[in-house]
Amino acid sequence: MADKKATLKVDGIEEQFELPVYEGTVGPDVVDVRSLSGKGLFTYDPGFMSTAATESKITYIDGAAGVLLHRGYPIEQLAEKSDYLETCYLLLHGELPSAEEKETFVNTIKNHTMVHEQLSHFFNGFRRDAHPMAIMCGVVGALSAFYHDSLDIHDEHHRVVSAHRLIAKMPTLAAMVYKYSIGQPFMFPRNDLSYAENFLHMMFNTPCEEKKISPVLAKAMDRIFLLHADHEQNASTSTVRLAGSTGANPFACIASGIAALWGPAHGGANEAVLNMLEEIGDESNIDKFIAKAKDKEDPFRLMGFGHRVYKNFDPRAKVMKQTCDEVLAELGMEDDPLLKIAMKLEKIATEDEYFVKRGLYPNVDFYSGIILKAIGIPTELFTVIFATGRTPGWIAHWNEMISSDYRIGRPRQLYTGHPKRDYPA
Ligand code: SDX
Repeated sequence: MADKKATLKVDGIEEQFELPVYEGTVGPDVVDVRSLSGKGLFTYDPGFMSTAATESKITYIDGAAGVLLHRGYPIEQLAEKSDYLETCYLLLHGELPSAEEKETFVNTIKNHTMVHEQLSHFFNGFRRDAHPMAIMCGVVGALSAFYHDSLDIHDEHHRVVSAHRLIAKMPTLAAMVYKYSIGQPFMFPRNDLSYAENFLHMMFNTPCEEKKISPVLAKAMDRIFLLHADHEQNASTSTVRLAGSTGANPFACIASGIAALWGPAHGGANEAVLNMLEEIGDESNIDKFIAKAKDKEDPFRLMGFGHRVYKNFDPRAKVMKQTCDEVLAELGMEDDPLLKIAMKLEKIATEDEYFVKRGLYPNVDFYSGIILKAIGIPTELFTVIFATGRTPGWIAHWNEMISSDYRIGRPRQLYTGHPKRDYPA
């Protein structure tokens, strides 16, 4: 940590405070304000716009430059040269695996893809039309009821086994959620298929017919998982860290991340983007929706646009757009009407002063929904795909915290309610 200092002078307080300032490898310096509570002061930062809640070595984002690094590697290079499971290994271990380490990791994940048969009974308690994220919150949290052998968070081996189980089982559970909604039998995972092929197999094959999975669609699915793998201290990852700081087991912590991701301002945006494009319905309606998005009296926002950190472009959106073009070409859907509306919307929004001034550009969710719909995944399952992809990031952050000298997260507040008053006699 550097020996830079910040000086704070507060009106009404004689003492002038000297606060340590730390420099990261890259990115903004941070002011260590931990000593302020002992001086009777709190910092105030609703939404954590200016707060570094932790130190981390996993992912770095430069919102102005559109940079996203996983353990130092740019997302564009990982999307082009790596694959999802290799990126999972990188996020968890900090380095790319050797060929032997990768083979061992891939085989370990393959051998954890099945779920306990009793877990399939959980589904019968849900309506067939239950929202898939409601079921995922339930069944992922319930995994801790099956794995009493790996719940000691202070045992590194337990943490590794839990990480493997979660990464391996999320696609199986996601496909089960889909099959349950359409009344088809669950498909068992197959160990002769790659991670993404296996997911598409469990989603779209049936016991009556097992079609070969298109390598283009499998590659696109793998890239979608990869592009969602981690994203620094976003809302759902911060939820996982806060839940983990209480000592909750990893399955409960990941379930809390799934719940936080569900919101339309966060991971629920990909589902909201498709619903918005379908509501727009025709290019002639775009101007009306652009006006709604600008109208402060109207709660409507242009879903898939804007980001708390990226104020120029989301590097993932660029790769996602390229993948979108590849998938639609493979499927002969280059003239997809939703894609045409999306591209017209993007052109208008990125030239409109309201959006440009506020740095509102397409984010990771803007094109992912079009790809997923083209693959045949129903809109309400989109956020489940996001949660599946984000699982290694959640686990890597949870593990980084549990492996460090952490304390329970407990923010304070600016209290503006009633002062002490007596109950009426
Ligand atoms: C994800 O944090 C992460 O890293 C998230 C994520 C990840 O990988 O984990 O990247 C995934 O969540 C991507 C974001 C998906 N959400 C959406 O696409 C929903 C639509 N976007 C907005 O809800 C919004 O842009 C947020 C939530 C993404 C960001 O909100 P901020 O940073 O709190 O920004 P803000 O709400 O303060 O907006 C700043 C201004 C406001 O106008 P003014 O008050 O300055 O006049 O921009 C406006 C907002 O009204 N604005 C929008 C807008 N987003 C912001 N106006 C119209 N349409 C939008 N989409």
